[in-house]
Amino acid sequence: MKILLTGAAGYIGSHVLKQLLETGAHEICVVDNLYSGKLEALQCLEKIAKFDFIKLDIANTAELEKLMVARRFDAVIHFAAFIEVAESVAKPLKYYLNNTANTANLVKIAIESGVKYFIFSSTAATYGEPESGVVSEESPQMPINPYGASKLMSERIIKDACAASKAKAGANGMKYGILRYFNVAGADGEIGQNYPNATHLIKVVCECICGARESVSVFGSDYESRDGTCERDYIHVCDLASAHLAVLEYLSSHESDVFNVGYGKDFSVREVIECAKKVSGVDFKVLDAPRRAGDPAVLISNASKIRKLTSWQPRYQSLELIISSALAWEKKCRNLS
Ligand code: UFG
Repeated sequence: MKILLTGAAGYIGSHVLKQLLETGAHEICVVDNLYSGKLEALQCLEKIAKFDFIKLDIANTAELEKLMVARRFDAVIHFAAFIEVAESVAKPLKYYLNNTANTANLVKIAIESGVKYFIFSSTAATYGEPESGVVSEESPQMPINPYGASKLMSERIIKDACAASKAKAGANGMKYGILRYFNVAGADGEIGQNYPNATHLIKVVCECICGARESVSVFGSDYESRDGTCERDYIHVCDLASAHLAVLEYLSSHESDVFNVGYGKDFSVREVIECAKKVSGVDFKVLDAPRRAGDPAVLISNASKIRKLTSWQPRYQSLELIISSALAWEKKCRNLS
C-alpha cells in the first residue's frame, strides 16, 4: 500500500511508522512540521527501510494537495495534532485550527485524491467525565476541554465526509478507522516520548527517578476511587501502534468503524508510583497536591470491540513493562545507564 503518515516524527506516529517499515510491505511518505516531532526519530527509523520525509505543515493545503494528487496514496494515518489539555484551555483556537480545521482540509484532499482508508488518532478525552468510569465506543462523548472537543469535531467531520464519499462512489468511497487512545506510555527502545515540560504521570515519574525532578505531586487524594487517587487505563505505545496496523488491515474487508484502544484495566496514581519505585529500586519523594482541573476520577476503556473484530493482539500488557521501557528511554535520553 502507498501510505501517507502525518506527524510521524512524534511519539505515537514514530512507533507506528517503525512497525509499518518492519512489515516491508508498504511505500511510506511522512509529512511533519517538526513542531514537536523529532528528526532524530525519523533518522533512527531510516535504518529499517527507506521512506520519504517531507517537512510540511498540514496547514499548507496547497503543498499537501500537490503531494497527495501526485502520489495517489491508498491510506492516510493522521497523527499531526496538538495534545496538551491545559494549553488547549488557554489557547482553544490553536487547537480548533490545527486539530479540527486542518483535519477537515486533509480529509477533503484525501477523498478528492482517491484515498481508500483514513485512520485517525482520537482520544479518550472525547468522553469527558463519564459517570461509570468505563466507556465503550457507544458511550456519550462530552469532552470537557478544547483538546477533546477538537478531536470530537474531527471525528464527526471524518464520519460525515466518508458517508458522503461512500454515497457518491460506493465501494470506492473512503473508509475511516477512528482510534480512541487511552493513557499511552512506554517506549520501544530506540524511540520514545521526548517533549520538554512533560505533564504525563509516567513521564514525570521517570524524570524524578532520573534526578531531573525533586518530587512527584499526586493531584488529588479525595476522588471516589480505590485509594482516592485517579484511575487510568495505561497502554504500552507498541501495543497502541500495532492497533493501527490491525485496523488498517480490518478496513480492507470491513466497513468504517471506531475503536477504543486500551487494555480495560486501571491503575491509580499511587499504584503507578509504587510500581515505578519497585521497577527502578529508587525511592523518590511523593507530595500530596490539590486536584488538577479537568481530571475525571476514573477513565477505563471497554476495549472488547477491537479485540473481537480485528487481529489486534496486545503483547506488552503489564504496568511493569510500560514503566521499565519508559524509564529505559528516559535514561537513554539523559545518557544515564
Ligand atoms: N498526575 C499526577 N501527577 C502528575 C501527573 C499526573 O497525579 O505529575 C495524575 C493526573 O492528575 C491524572 C493521572 O495522573 O489523574 C494521569 O494523568 P496524565 O497527565 O498522565 O494523563 P491524563 O489522564 O490527564 O490524559 C491522558 C492524555 C489525554 C487522554 C487521556 C485519556 O494526555 O490526551 O490520557 O485517558 F485523553
